[in-house]
This record gives sequence, C-alpha cells and structure tokens, in this order.
Amino acid sequence: MAGFVAGAPVSAAVAQIDPSPFGEHRRALSLAEMQTAFDFEPVFRGNVSLPVYDYTAHGDGSEFNVQRNRQAFDWVDIAPARNAIPEAQVDLSSELFGVRMKFPILIAPTAAMVPLHPEGEIGMFKAATAAWNTLMILSTNTSTPVAKVAPSAPGGTLWAQFYPQQNLAATQQWMDTYQNAGCNGIIVTVDQQAAYYERSLQNRNLGGRVRTAGLGQGARGAAATLTGAARYRVNPGRLWYTWQYIDAVRKMVKGPLLLKGIQDPEDARLAIAHGADAIIVSNHGGRSMDYGPSTLEIMPEIAAAVNGRIPILFDSGIRRGADIFKALALGADGVCLGRAARWGLGAFGPAGAQRLIEILQRELVQVAAAAGCAKLTDINKTRVKINFA
Ligand SMILES: Cc1cc2nc3c(=O)[nH]c(=O)nc-3n(C[C@H](O)[C@H](O)[C@H](O)COP(=O)(O)O)c2cc1C
Repeated sequence: MAGFVAGAPVSAAVAQIDPSPFGEHRRALSLAEMQTAFDFEPVFRGNVSLPVYDYTAHGDGSEFNVQRNRQAFDWVDIAPARNAIPEAQVDLSSELFGVRMKFPILIAPTAAMVPLHPEGEIGMFKAATAAWNTLMILSTNTSTPVAKVAPSAPGGTLWAQFYPQQNLAATQQWMDTYQNAGCNGIIVTVDQQAAYYERSLQNRNLGGRVRTAGLGQGARGAAATLTGAARYRVNPGRLWYTWQYIDAVRKMVKGPLLLKGIQDPEDARLAIAHGADAIIVSNHGGRSMDYGPSTLEIMPEIAAAVNGRIPILFDSGIRRGADIFKALALGADGVCLGRAARWGLGAFGPAGAQRLIEILQRELVQVAAAAGCAKLTDINKTRVKINFA
C-alpha cells in the first residue's frame, strides 16, 4: 500500500507544485536551535514565496560577485594566538559620531522588509535595539515610513539611507523628512547599482521582474512589456552621479554624512575632500556590478588611502563573527549586516533578527578572545594573514 501511495500521481503532482520543497527537513527547526547565521536562511526560505526569497538572495548577473564576497573571507587567515584571553576580558565597544556601540556591528539598509515578516522595518529596529542597541540604517525603499519606524524602539538609534535624486528640491525634502524624524546620520548610496537580476528575468514567464514595490504582489501577474533600453537589460537610472551633487547634499545634512558603496581608494580620498564624515566600503552585496572584486580584497588599499582620517564601515558577505574580525583587522571600524539580518527577520520575526545579531556578537567576542584581542584597537592587520594577491 505504501508503495502504491508513493508512486501515485497525486504525490508526483505535489512535488511539481512546490518548486523548492522544504529541503530534507523532517520538521522546522525552532528559534532556540539556531546556532549560526546560516541556520536561519532555510527557515526564512521556507516561510516566504520564491520571488520574496530571490529578492533577498540575488546578485547582479551571474552572481559571481556574491560568491566572491563570501570566498574572500576564506583567504584571510587569523594568526594563531600566542596569548588567547578569557572572553570576559574582551570589550569591543566604541563610539561612532556620539552613538555608543557595544559591538562594531550595524544593520545595513535593505529595502522592503514587510514581505519578510508583517512587523517589517519596525520589527527589525526593535530587534536591533534589543540586541545591545545595534544601530540600524533604514533603507529609502522602506516598506514602512520613517516617521513610523523611528519612534518604535525607544532608546534605539536609526539612521537613514538615500539614493541620489537629480532634483535638488526633492532631495532636500527627503533630507528634511529623515532629519525631522530624528535620523541624525544620513547615508548616501553612491554605487551604481544599475544592475538587472537574472533570477528575476528567469521569473519573467511567471510575471516579469520583481521590483521592490511589487514584491509579493505583482510577482505572478502579467509580464510587463519592456521598452527602450530596458529591452536590453540596461538600467541607466543611477549612472549620472557627480561629486557636485554630493557637495549639495553635504549642505543639507546637519549631522554625519556617510557615503556607501565606495570601492576605490581614489573615491575614498574624494569622499573625504567632498565632506563625507565616513564611508561604507560596499559592493551592495554583489548586487551592484558583477565581476568586481570582493569588498574584503579592496579593504586594505582603501584603509591606506583613508589613513585614519574618517571611520570606515564595511559590508558585503558578513555571515560570521570571524568575517567581522577579518574586516576589522583589514581596517574597518565597523560592519553592516545585509542579508543575514533579513534571514533572521524572515525566519522568526523580530526575535529571530535579535538572536541572529546576538550570535554574531558572541562569535566576534569568541574570535577576538582566541586571537588575544581585548579591545577593538588590538584587532589590526598583525592579527591576520592575507592569502590573496
Ligand atoms: C534585499 C536587499 C535590499 C537592499 N536594499 C538596499 C537599499 O535599499 N539601499 C542600499 O543602500 N543598499 C541596499 N542593499 C545593500 C545592503 O545595504 C548591503 O550593502 C548588502 O546587503 C551587504 O551585503 P550582504 O547582504 O552580503 O551582507 C540591499 C541588499 C539586499 C540584500
């Protein structure tokens, strides 16, 4: 009988309906069983539709850059410690523009969190604040307005990210909105991100590209008819950026201005010359331009160009405490979590995001202790060996 049921057309049909069944899991793992950031991803995948999952996972083009961001961490050794110390002696606290940080970890701006979990950006901000007051950067493409997110986690710090807009009056309006909502730090993302995502193209027969606004709704509607340059997958929307624009924005921002997406030492120098208070070394998690270098590979050169003049934050590929340690050792003052934080929220809501952040905090302390680093300034390039050219 069992053999008959297993071979019946009904079970075959079910397998075809679900394009990505819940792996080999016999049961869904619980929050308490999450041990690493990676544990959250399959749970998140099981909770959401394929387009929502793909929107978080994908990178530009072949996604080589996404993989390279991860692989680069494997090619940096942590120097074996002659002087490991107890974890209790490790204090990785620092201050960033007046914000006290117990750990050098922030939440990167990532768009549209409500499709991940009904509590969306508010849930993420509460989770970040509960995890030792982790600073969160809200995406300009948030699914919840900044005025609602900002007051939702008392005591927390929310900064806001913005994509350049050619219209200066519109830019000023956005800056006013953010600053009136209490976002002191403003992050302007300057990577081109003119990319198209092949995963979304492959979904075209299921309903065209999945963009932020239609996420979760339009995904299976009628395929959009592409016109003009878009027919050839050219997305020119962000190719006009100039330093003069940054000069104009600088005047609008009263607090710290951070430029996100710096991938070149000369751009780092120019960022300082044009008034940036900090930079974020980022390739948008491999979503900006395929076949570029990983951010870890370019970090040492950028740190040399900046030479301690302004803080450097780092993102793209952070999944472990050891990754954070390596980025700090190569010159970062802090790191931002992109996809990893989304996995936490999408898997278990705010409690999941909080636990994920805390796992990375704990892992970082463990690595620092094992490497004999009691404080942030002890984590420097003498603690690592780079194996890429
Ligand atoms: C789903 C998703 C949406 C994103 N949306 C934005 C955004 O709106 N603004 C922005 O500056 N960066 C955005 N990013 C890039 C992140 O801020 C960050 O640079 C990147 O996620 C880091 O790489 P990681 O995900 O491998 O950690 C997004 C990234 C993802 C994965």
